Amino acid sequence: MVLGLRSRLLGLAGLLLWLCVLPWAEGGKVLVMPMEGSHWLSMRKVVQELHARGHQAVVLAPELNVLIKGEDTFTLKTYSIPYTQEEFHELLFGNSGNMFETTDFLKKFLNTFTAMRNASMFFHRSCAELLYNKPLIRQLNDSSFDVVITDPVFPCGALLAKYLSIPAVFFLRAVPCDLDFEGTQCPNPSSYIPRLMTMNSDHMTFLQRVKNMLYPLGLKSICHMSYDPYASLASELFQRDVSLVDILSHGSVWLFRGDFVLDYPRPIMPNMVFIGGINCANRKPLSQVCMLPLCN
Ligand SMILES: *[C@@H]1O[C@H](CO)[C@@H](O)[C@H](O)[C@H]1NC(C)=O
Ligand SMILES: *[C@@H]1O[C@H](CO)[C@@H](O)[C@H](O)[C@H]1NC(C)=O
Repeated sequence: MVLGLRSRLLGLAGLLLWLCVLPWAEGGKVLVMPMEGSHWLSMRKVVQELHARGHQAVVLAPELNVLIKGEDTFTLKTYSIPYTQEEFHELLFGNSGNMFETTDFLKKFLNTFTAMRNASMFFHRSCAELLYNKPLIRQLNDSSFDVVITDPVFPCGALLAKYLSIPAVFFLRAVPCDLDFEGTQCPNPSSYIPRLMTMNSDHMTFLQRVKNMLYPLGLKSICHMSYDPYASLASELFQRDVSLVDILSHGSVWLFRGDFVLDYPRPIMPNMVFIGGINCANRKPLSQVCMLPLCN
């Protein structure tokens, strides 16, 4: 009798083990929502590798884009956006002359600011167009994806994943204004972590610490301008108050394309994984560069 129970328990354990392994033994369905430009080039390698390991990837991109083209390692699905080819071209290249113009600083700054506002408006309007595209959302919902992989630098993919209730993996270098810290609820002490563009190191004098606290305030307004529309969009969709942090907290795993060889050490959360160098698929030896103090 005891023996019978034991063998039944063993059988049950075996069945459980088999059930656990089963979902991983077959390929998963991955919805990929990349960011345009160089961001896609790093993610493309990951999608190719997922394909090589037997997973099925669908890449979702706006119909007007620069680098995201169909390949036989994934299915490309595009969605319409409220821009014409001419407007898109103007948005991309209209402001490129500004960089090299020797006009006064203020004019240059204002031009760059408008160009950034135009670009973030483009991403936001395209995102709204996608999320209100009922047939496409229904089709994506019916496809029962296992996971969404997305770059949250513009959090449309993160919002889509939350909307479809699919776990999300974030693949990123960073999100401006430390929104990645807020999304991961990671400690982020100003007294210790040198801020962007301050040129501070992790050892600061009192005045440097003051500077370290003041610098991010300037960037905050630009961030609000670029990111608040996603919180409004989410609140409209879910018909309740949804903050940007709510959207970003949907990420289950954060894969950071960074490394502490380049970045200052800082506290991290258990779901933050550092994968710096993953995008260096085509490595070349560094060319000899002469930095003056190092030359001999
Ligand atoms: C921003 O968009 C407006 C209106 O679409 C356009 O007139 C302006 O030239 C754009 N500015 C820059 C710097 O791209
Ligand atoms: C997805 O489908 C489920 C089940 O049919 C439904 O409950 C849910 O509301 C759908 N989600 C969206 C965003 O349409």
